Amino acid sequence: MRFIKIFDTTLRDGAQSASAMLKIGNEIKVAEQLERLNVDMIEAGFPASSKAEQDIVGIIARESSKTIAALARAKKEDVKKAWHSIRRAKKPRFHIFIASSDDHIKNKLNMSRQEVVNAAVESIKYAKEISNGNAEIEFSAEDATRSNERFLFQLYNAAIKAGAGIINIPDTVGFFLPNEFFRMVRKIRKRFPLPEVSVHCHNDLGLAVANSIAAIHAGANQVHCTMNGIGERAGNAALEEIATILTVKKNSVNACSNIKIGEIYKTAQIVSKYFGVGIPVYKAVIGANAMKHEAGIHVQHVKGYEAFNPEYIGAEREIIIGRHSGIHTVLEVARINRINIGKEEAIALLNEIKKKGLKISQKDFKRYLEQKA
Ligand code: KIV
Ligand code: ZN
Repeated sequence: MRFIKIFDTTLRDGAQSASAMLKIGNEIKVAEQLERLNVDMIEAGFPASSKAEQDIVGIIARESSKTIAALARAKKEDVKKAWHSIRRAKKPRFHIFIASSDDHIKNKLNMSRQEVVNAAVESIKYAKEISNGNAEIEFSAEDATRSNERFLFQLYNAAIKAGAGIINIPDTVGFFLPNEFFRMVRKIRKRFPLPEVSVHCHNDLGLAVANSIAAIHAGANQVHCTMNGIGERAGNAALEEIATILTVKKNSVNACSNIKIGEIYKTAQIVSKYFGVGIPVYKAVIGANAMKHEAGIHVQHVKGYEAFNPEYIGAEREIIIGRHSGIHTVLEVARINRINIGKEEAIALLNEIKKKGLKISQKDFKRYLEQKA
């Protein structure tokens, strides 16, 4: 079975989300939980963005046992600041990027293709030099999926020759379909037989996780992702979804990860709290509704209506008595609460709840009965 490295970018790309309200210092608490979750790499931030970010990345780098990555544009000043932050990490990694699509090259960078190649090569060589070869170098061609293929290959080739040991393929605007991404990653995998080929998928069309899984099928062995899928616009590939897929579907994907799946739910809550971004109720894996059952037929055989047991991820299933419930739901909720009720009492209760249009959670059932008494 193949092993997939989880490169967590919650503290970098996740923090770039326009809705994120992460207060300075709370990054450390999030990093501690990511460590407990057992991600392989933590991209702790973008040191060139501010002095505060530089310091926080430095603290995380010193304290973590994981690979700590710092983002840098393909510029010497950025690389220098990134190194200053990660130099005390047990396993430091530069994440150097530059755009490769003609649209970004022309309209954002105002450069020629050759200038892009030169900037990538120079910054990678500088990273190697400044770190004395003691840091890994990952290179991202931003907007790779909308880039001219020949130029993209030329750029990756130059980056590898300059010293990048890992190449990352970003679908920066979440533009590709899984079959398109599969083909692209497979081609790159064949062309560049590096030990690590990584992907970075955005969720603009709701395909970030599907694209990441397609890339794994095509041979990628590292995925960038964020907890709760937090990130720019519609977010990044959700770590909790990828990790759960690599657990419950590991035989189909023929791949697994190091993630401690039992820490998923707790991590989701911590990220939500510190980033000030709620978890949508319908969010796959961690959304409140993802673990709730109301329909009578479902409650009769609840495990038959779950892709995985919520306890896997450290969460709890919740049964609700409401309009769609049947007698089994009431009896099951009573059993969970260790309350003995007969069939007739259950029917009467159910009718009352339906008539009043209520929804009674298993957690509130006892209180509901007490209030009635
Ligand atoms: O989305 C993107 O392309 C990025 C790069 C910096 C890798 O976040
Ligand atoms: Zn991104």
